[in-house]
Formats: sequence, structure tokens, C-alpha cells
Amino acid sequence: MTIVKDLKVTKVVRVNALRPDMKVIDEVANVLRSGGLCAFPTETVYGLGADGYNNEAVMRIFKVKGRPPDNPLIMHVSSKEMFDELVVDVPEIAYRLIDFAWPGPLTLVLKKSAKVPKEVTAGLPTVAVRCPGHPVALSLINALGRPIAAPSANLSGRPSPTNASHVIEDLMGLVDVVVDGGETFFGVESTIIDVTSDPPVLLRPGPISVEDLVRVLGKEIKIPSFARGLSEAEVSLSPGTRYRHYSPNTPLLLVELDDYSDLKALTTTVLNHANRLTSKGLRVAIIASSETAEYYRVRGYDVLVLGSRSNVFEVAHNLFDVLRLCDSLKADIAIAEGFDEVGLGLAIMNRLRKAAKYRVLVTPPKQ
Ligand code: TXA
Ligand code: MG
Repeated sequence: MTIVKDLKVTKVVRVNALRPDMKVIDEVANVLRSGGLCAFPTETVYGLGADGYNNEAVMRIFKVKGRPPDNPLIMHVSSKEMFDELVVDVPEIAYRLIDFAWPGPLTLVLKKSAKVPKEVTAGLPTVAVRCPGHPVALSLINALGRPIAAPSANLSGRPSPTNASHVIEDLMGLVDVVVDGGETFFGVESTIIDVTSDPPVLLRPGPISVEDLVRVLGKEIKIPSFARGLSEAEVSLSPGTRYRHYSPNTPLLLVELDDYSDLKALTTTVLNHANRLTSKGLRVAIIASSETAEYYRVRGYDVLVLGSRSNVFEVAHNLFDVLRLCDSLKADIAIAEGFDEVGLGLAIMNRLRKAAKYRVLVTPPKQ
């Protein structure tokens, strides 16, 4: 017999994403105030929130997600006063980034104040802070009047949720409230930059591009290979990057090119692998761009479309939903096309590489 502990009744409440009903928001804030957990939309992905100053509620986030306790959480704030309470020794460049990107999808890693519970930062001397731009997230933090500690609202290792049904799939019966505000805007998590070192270090690429960060700061930033999804992080820099992420249950093979201007090289490689795996008796699904989807479809493959290569916002927006849908196709393996690492493309490739079990690199023949 399995005894399921902590099973709750999860209430799902719908709100308008742009003009949320404040009565509903106040009720959800009360749930947080009494130590409860709630999932809510942000402009990036849904968050799983607790009162950031309530140690026990914060610890429950880790338990519910199955998250390793050494992987710290982001504190979400809605005002300068809340921000000031959390951090010390803020460098000038941090304020420049805040002026540029907040409220919005940028997280800053800064030295923490004594007020931040060690449960939030997993014992690190730094804290990750962001002021989200989503009206529901902002009004919820305002209504609580304290920072909300929140990771993405998925079970650990699963793709981040970009709509309420993703959250319900993972967390029904485990949290008090799910605030359904429809689809998130960007679909990939915030950009994270550590401004405690000089040059600043990109810990996770996201909707605020490296190109923009460099322009605003007027100087280079360090992009470690783990920020491109290419190797494991040093534990001290970004604990979260050590863990396998975003993974569909279906194993994923990612096909990467040096240069995506020649789509023929891409489609040929993907098709060769698909045919090879099919001939071994495996059922193959393909994750493609709208430019190439038909090529595989007419050859009999199930295709999930991310969006157009000329609109990476569309690709990012659909990415996690497609990774979740991938499992519903019941394929033995999925093959995904890679994208240029320009602008938002860097975040897309970081997520795809972390989701992938295998990678194939196609280098052009030497001239
Ligand atoms: O867009 C987002 O950032 C979403 C929404 C809900 O705000 N949140 C999110 O949280 O993606 P999470 O927990 O899934 O990812 C936060 C990442 C983790 O990789 C964690 O290791 C890193 O931030 N992090 C948190 N605090 C840190 C710190 N003090 N130093 C370095 N990395 C930190
Ligand atoms: Mg996450």
C-alpha cells in the first residue's frame, strides 16, 4: 500500500492576464500569507510561489517539486523597497540593468542581506532577484507586501510550465492554488546574470538577450560554456545548471549545424537519422521549424512545429509545450532541429541542449 502524504485540494482560479480581478488576487495573497503555496503566471513561465520570508513554506516548495535542497530560488519583488531589503553592496551596473529591464524577464544575482532566509539561497552568500513584468505576478507580490520565492512550477527535471494545464499536470493535489492566467508571454525562463563579479557572468540565457546586456553595460560579459548548455556548471556559480532539465520522457536527439543558412544540410541529416532509427524498428517523431516541417511530414513522420526561424519569439513561446506534447505522441525517440544562437536563439539552444539525451553536430566539409 502506498500512503500519499500531504495531498491537498488544489483550487484553480482563472484571472484576466492583463487586468486581474483584485479580489481574487487578495484571496491568493492570503493563502501565501498563511504559509500556503500557489502557482501563478509570470511573463516567462509559471512560478510556484511561497512567502519568501516564511522558511517552512519555502521548504515545502522543495518538497513538492522534488527539488534538490542545494538549488536556490529566485526572490520576486514588486518595489524598490522590497529589493533594498534583500541585497547589500549593489554595484552601479546592477542599477543600469534594472533601469533597462525591470519589470521584466531579467534576474540579478547579488550579495544577500541578513534578511534572506538561508532556505531560499541554499546557504549561498548571494540571492537571485527579479521584478516580473506580468500584471498577475506583480499584483500578487504587491498584495502580499513581501517578496515571493518561486522556482518554475514544474516537477523537478520536467519542462517549465507555460500554461495552467502544464502546472496542473505536474502539481495537482500538491499545491493550494493555481492561478490560471492563460499562456505566458515569452515561454522561456528569465535571463540570469551574476553582477557580483567583474566582468558580470551570464548564468542562464533568456528573453533579455546578451546583445542587449552588452549594449546597456557598454562592456563584455562572460558567457561560460554551461550558459550555452554545453557543459556542467561549477557548483559555486549556478547550482541549478548541474541538474538535468526540461526533459521530455521521450529521449531527444538534437541536430546542430554551424550555420543554419543551408537548411538542406539540416533536413538531410535529420532525415538520415530518422530513417536509420526507423529501420531499427523505432517510432520517430521530429521537432522542426515551420520552414522544414512539410519536408518530414510528406515522408511519413509525425512532426511537432516550434515556429518560424524568422520569428524566434514564436519558437521560444512554443518550446516547452512542444517538449511536453512530444511525450503524448508515444514515439521511442524524437529528433529536434537546432537554431542559430543569436538573440533569443541562445536561450532556445540552451534549453534544447539540456533537454537532449544525444547531440549530433554537422560541420561543413572543408573547402
Ligand atoms: O523566469 C524565471 O526565472 C522563472 C519565473 C517563475 O520567475 N523562475 C525560474 O526559477 O526559472 P528556477 O528556480 O526554475 O530557476 C532559477 C535558477 C536556478 O537554476 C538556480 O540555480 C539559479 O536560478 N539561482 C537561484 N539563486 C541563485 C544564486 N544565488 N546564485 C546562482 N544561481 C542562482
Ligand atoms: Mg526551473
